[in-house]
Amino acid sequence: MSTAPSTAAPPREQWTGQFGFIMSAIGSAVGLGNIWRFPGVAYENGGGAFLIPYLIALVTAGLPILFLDYALGHRFRGSAPTVFRRIGGRIGRFTESLGWFQVAIAFVIGLYYTAIIGWALSYFVFSFDLRWGDDPTSFLTDEYLQVSEPGLSTTFVPGVLIPLVFVWVAVIAVLAAGVKKGLERANVIAIPALGVAFLVLVVRALFLDGAVDGLNALFTPNWAALGDPSVWIAAYSQIFFSLSIAFGIMVTYSSYRKRRANLTTPGLVVAFTNCSFELLAGIGVFATLGFFAFQQGTTIDQLDGITGVGLSFMTFPAIVSQMPGGPLFGCLFFGSLVLAGFTSLISILQVVSAGVQEKFGLTSRSAPVVVGAVSAVLSILLFSTTTGLLALDVMDEWANNIGIEFSAVVVTVLVFWVLRRGRELEYHLNAVSTFKVGRIWLFFVAVLAPVLLTYMLYERIKDLVLDGYSDMPGWYLATFGWGTIVFCIIAAIVLTAFRWVRSPDEFTPWPPYPPTPTSSERTEAGA
Ligand code: ALA
Repeated sequence: MSTAPSTAAPPREQWTGQFGFIMSAIGSAVGLGNIWRFPGVAYENGGGAFLIPYLIALVTAGLPILFLDYALGHRFRGSAPTVFRRIGGRIGRFTESLGWFQVAIAFVIGLYYTAIIGWALSYFVFSFDLRWGDDPTSFLTDEYLQVSEPGLSTTFVPGVLIPLVFVWVAVIAVLAAGVKKGLERANVIAIPALGVAFLVLVVRALFLDGAVDGLNALFTPNWAALGDPSVWIAAYSQIFFSLSIAFGIMVTYSSYRKRRANLTTPGLVVAFTNCSFELLAGIGVFATLGFFAFQQGTTIDQLDGITGVGLSFMTFPAIVSQMPGGPLFGCLFFGSLVLAGFTSLISILQVVSAGVQEKFGLTSRSAPVVVGAVSAVLSILLFSTTTGLLALDVMDEWANNIGIEFSAVVVTVLVFWVLRRGRELEYHLNAVSTFKVGRIWLFFVAVLAPVLLTYMLYERIKDLVLDGYSDMPGWYLATFGWGTIVFCIIAAIVLTAFRWVRSPDEFTPWPPYPPTPTSSERTEAGA
């Protein structure tokens, strides 16, 4: 099995410093989840009242698990499989599989995430001449995606295929350029551009007729929703996806930080920026929807397509067609989707690339090419055919609500209860950071998060088994929904069984734990 000869590994790549890391972590966190997912999720799950489970999820699980991911990656200095192998010690051969499970989830998410960015790229171009015409809904389903019944189509749609190939080439090029020259540079350029574009968009939206009605619709609380477990599940899932935690991204990114690097304070900056961006997206989107309802002489609750794919690719184009300066607004919206999505996509693919690179001894240039080529082929097969939209919806539901939450439960139980490394990780965070975490962090991450998440996971699985999803046929959900989870588990087992080209085991975490007493402490103890 997986013992290995030991040959020297090349020195680990690093961010240039704190700024590069913060920009890249924000780039990863702020993504399609913020613009494409959050506004609809908030609206459907209690409106203003959703902010309560959302903030509770942020404080009780989001930030604590973000810090946990940082501590794991920074202390054990590797991709997710390397980290879980090293922390596992004598059972590292088994715990490594958790890292591969996270890699597999990132791989699956990368497949469909790229497709959405490809669509956004097309719509960015379509915005110039409002190509979707008078009926953006049929344009999306009939002309652009050419959606057919659920099934396994082999009919490729060139208009979807070409931007998808373009996105894959771009992501491989960025990853192959390395951590500093590729990932960091892309983020340092794209994130400020995104900030400016999105701010202009939101300010413009706020001055549209009907904007206030849109904001009222989003923020009017439906307190009864708080009694519904699915609302809480939605909040926790949103926070996990949005902060890029529990599926290997922040473990990988923090492993490129220098040994002496503040972890928790940048973590607070990243989480605050991400959640602010998310709220800003909610405000911008609902102000725009308010305008749309006003134009139609109706109210927001009567509008169709105000969540997910429908929101971005049906409703927004319709709004763009009706508003003064529409093409510019469309370019800003779809351009923001592309920038936000791309900076997250590179972090998602880096999880896979770094894992494969370390285990199979590839170079930092060849790993992204191999991983990118395999992913690109699969992504093209799945999402540039006429059944792409349906597969995407189902895979997103399962990967997020089941896969990531399952991973979070297993990580917390393994690290804190099986391996009992909680104090060590707390010590690590405090030794390098200015914002100290206390016992409350341990309580949230080791007790509250696993208990809450296990309950939610159980509820979610029960609902999906008993009620299905979106009226789709059972065989389809079995293939693309449950099949996604089964694929991740099998991938984790198979990849763990391969032999390491360079053993990850000869490794001493820094700073040492338990800490060695200073000379004055030794003198005092001896006195
Ligand atoms: N954090 C990324 C997003 O929100 C994955 O889309």
